[in-house]
Amino acid sequence: MPSPLARARRAVRAATRAGLRSLQRDAALGNLPGFEDAWGTAHRVPGWFGETEAAVFWSVVHEVRPATVVEIGSYLGRSTTLLGLALQHADVPAARLVAIDPHTGDRQNMRALGISTIPTLDLFRIYMQAAGIGELLDVRVAPSAEVAADWHDPVDLLFVDGWHSKRGVLADARGFGPHLTDRGIVCFDDYTAYKSVRRGADLACTELGLVRYGTVAAQLWAGRPEVAPAGVVRALRVERLVSAARRLSPRR
Ligand SMILES: C[S@@+](CC[C@H](N)C(=O)[O-])C[C@H]1O[C@@H](n2cnc3c(N)ncnc32)[C@H](O)[C@@H]1O
Repeated sequence: MPSPLARARRAVRAATRAGLRSLQRDAALGNLPGFEDAWGTAHRVPGWFGETEAAVFWSVVHEVRPATVVEIGSYLGRSTTLLGLALQHADVPAARLVAIDPHTGDRQNMRALGISTIPTLDLFRIYMQAAGIGELLDVRVAPSAEVAADWHDPVDLLFVDGWHSKRGVLADARGFGPHLTDRGIVCFDDYTAYKSVRRGADLACTELGLVRYGTVAAQLWAGRPEVAPAGVVRALRVERLVSAARRLSPRR
């Protein structure tokens, strides 16, 4: 049982993290409208994608206006919902959201529960219908490497949130990274949460010659342009300010 002091420290750290994420959410959104309603829908879908991550994606979609978004790892469709609603709200012409998932279950979830498969496709389809984003969805029920083997189209925004191993992340990035356009942006989920993801993402960025912009809410943002989209830049600035404030505040 941790001591009361250790528990208090943990609570302070959690509160600081929550405060930082809320500041980053607001910084990423700036004056962009529409997010509250979209998140109100997306957060009802079970999943891991948080509000800050969603806000950064909302701003990136509105700025980059990606014609093709590839999402690797949809699960029940929380991030898919947010991405689809963002493409609709930004009114991106002929937008396509490719949602890739074998729908056999999330690695960490299955390990924690001691089971080897979680079929998610039926529920995913129900949530997608409820979100009303069907007309821009291109659902692929397969591992990313299988889809990538037959892929030829340019990709403007790639979201890597599939199998969280070094090999899995690398396979995802190697499959779709070469198709990134000159303005192509990539987000690696859970980059700071899992060493395996970090190793895979770092290697992938080096191999693909991607600029690493930095991490927001555990996700690594990278891309072909030298400068990150404005919403990412604003969220990163908050992270740096809070880190500087932490370094300056006296330790007891
Ligand atoms: C962390 S969940 C995705 C969470 C989702 N983005 C959300 O918003 O809740 C990871 C998903 O990756 C899928 N997955 C596992 N291996 C995959 C692969 N090789 N290619 C694509 N998806 C994969 C799993 O089936 C699981 O649904």
